[in-house]
Amino acid sequence: MDLQVSDDVSKEYLAEVLPILENEEVLSLSTFSHHQWTNRLMHSINVSYLSWFIAKKLGCDEKAAARAGLLHDFCPYDFKKKTPTGEHQAFYHPKAAARNSERVFQISERERKAILTHMFPLGPMPTNKEAWIITLADKICASMELCHVAIALARRNRLVLRTASA
Ligand SMILES: [Fe+2]
Ligand SMILES: [Fe+2]
Repeated sequence: MDLQVSDDVSKEYLAEVLPILENEEVLSLSTFSHHQWTNRLMHSINVSYLSWFIAKKLGCDEKAAARAGLLHDFCPYDFKKKTPTGEHQAFYHPKAAARNSERVFQISERERKAILTHMFPLGPMPTNKEAWIITLADKICASMELCHVAIALARRNRLVLRTASA
């Protein structure tokens, strides 16, 4: 997997997320379709970038917003499959994403809580500013993706995912 990033993408943003984007398990999210028209990795990158942008504008912790946004759906499995607990995927996958993020990366408590609450109002209410931002960014990105409208880094192909053979 190769990431092609255009020059107008903030270097400051990239510095926060590149260590996560170099992880093979995270990159494998590109093999799962998401919101019909995109894949789970591109969706996660869009949520991450939009969360970083909003957090920076509002004077919040933009690093935590970027990282937790990127990891909020860190679930390399098919969402159509039954969950091990029998819970609906909407309630199960934030917990799986938080567990996977803790296993692979050192995440802060603020980031963990933001991942766990991103499905609000399905599931628990966000308890910090960055969590609210990610919840909002996820819904904005999901709505745009379902309408097949390119948003955040998908706009004007500012970030393109290319498989090694492409
Ligand atoms: Fe999600
Ligand atoms: Fe999401």
